[in-house]
Amino acid sequence: MDRIRICGGVPINGEIPISGAKNAALPLMTAALLSAETLTLSNLPHLADITTLANLLVQHGVEIRMNGAAAGDGHIGRVLELSAGTITSTRAPYDLVRKMRASILVLGPLLAREGRAEVSLPGGCAIGTRPVDLHLKGLTLLGAEIDLREGYVHAAAPNGLVGAEIVFPMVSVGATENLLMAATLAKGTTRLVNAAREPEVTDLALCLTSMGARIEGMGSDTLIIHGVERLHGAAHSVIPDRIETGTYAMAAAITGGEVELLGAKAEHLRSVIEILGRAGVSVTETNRGLHVKRADGRLHGVDVMTEPFPGFPTDLQAQTMSLMAAAEGAAMITESIFENRFMHVPELCRMGADINVHGASAMVRGQPSLTGAEVMATDLRASVSLVIAALAAQGETVVNRVYHLDRGYERLEDKLAACGARIERIK
Ligand code: UD1
Repeated sequence: MDRIRICGGVPINGEIPISGAKNAALPLMTAALLSAETLTLSNLPHLADITTLANLLVQHGVEIRMNGAAAGDGHIGRVLELSAGTITSTRAPYDLVRKMRASILVLGPLLAREGRAEVSLPGGCAIGTRPVDLHLKGLTLLGAEIDLREGYVHAAAPNGLVGAEIVFPMVSVGATENLLMAATLAKGTTRLVNAAREPEVTDLALCLTSMGARIEGMGSDTLIIHGVERLHGAAHSVIPDRIETGTYAMAAAITGGEVELLGAKAEHLRSVIEILGRAGVSVTETNRGLHVKRADGRLHGVDVMTEPFPGFPTDLQAQTMSLMAAAEGAAMITESIFENRFMHVPELCRMGADINVHGASAMVRGQPSLTGAEVMATDLRASVSLVIAALAAQGETVVNRVYHLDRGYERLEDKLAACGARIERIK
């Protein structure tokens, strides 16, 4: 199993190309199931999760052709042509779904196109129970009959889905995406109220629109979808990854470096830019992306609470905690989206951080310096928080179980090494 070795204490300086967003790419790929014509997606990141979903789509009968840069070959995104001319299977098996929760996103499209789907329940997850009840309740309101048997969701709508009003009791990115896709082919009008407003949801809505879907309210918390008979082919470019952007901004900030994040978009990161500003990091727009520089002196502790977009993203919570662990003063970090998303805390403490967790909040008392250690990655964002801490720590850190990182960060060690970090992958 690969590990990553980092010798800390070197400022990160230079340019980092930002890849296409994983969390936009995954739902966009499942949207290919909605049409018999070809969906061409460009600027896809080279990541394990993309391959996992491609394998799932292939077993549903989707033909996938790959163009563009090969894996690991520069930062030009990959291009995939996905053609779901005939759906050969509506079953998403456990051995593929369990690898990645986002596989549940095939449910809405399969049901809308084929009138049936059998999708394995995703099962447990390292960052809390993460149920799919909102996805299922929404599809029931669109007229589907849903049955849970032998670990599978059996969904049927033999006469097609019918538009309805769906009021989400809490904001869910995945449920919004699943229902949005299903509603594009339902009869009549669907209203999704308290819908997620994440940029990845809007990117999906834009792609669906270019496939012929009729969607109003994009970017707002109410999406109105007028169902159409069929969707056609389209070409769409995936938005830049705002979580990768925030992660590298924090890597530069914690090391006292200065980077330009190529292709990054400020409008996707307003809440993050605001917090970084208060911590003593300037983030400014350039004509190529975002410029990040820490002010002279140490960072300041700032309280942070995760919230649905446009609030501070939960996927940057762990990285922010590393930053605050090395800041001057204290910071209260509150996780309001997921339970049990503080698994990085014990590992950061082994690197000299002073963090106490009380329920959904963590009190971080910043230290003058962190120290390298052998640490264990537990999930995607937790792993990268250890890398960030290691970049600033004195001495050597070895991060184990980096397959978590490979699910969501494209060529992380190459991008950081190109900016001066002493980082290498140990095979
Ligand atoms: C997506 C992102 C993930 C991010 C999360 C929140 C992808 C592939 N993943 O995950 O990186 O951390 O949004 O921004 O885009 N919930 C329910 N019932 C449901 C669905 C969700 O109770 O049916 C709860 C979850 O347990 C969680 C909250 O709603 O507490 C938000 O989850 P959700 O927005 O659905 O996250 P994902 O779409 O799984």
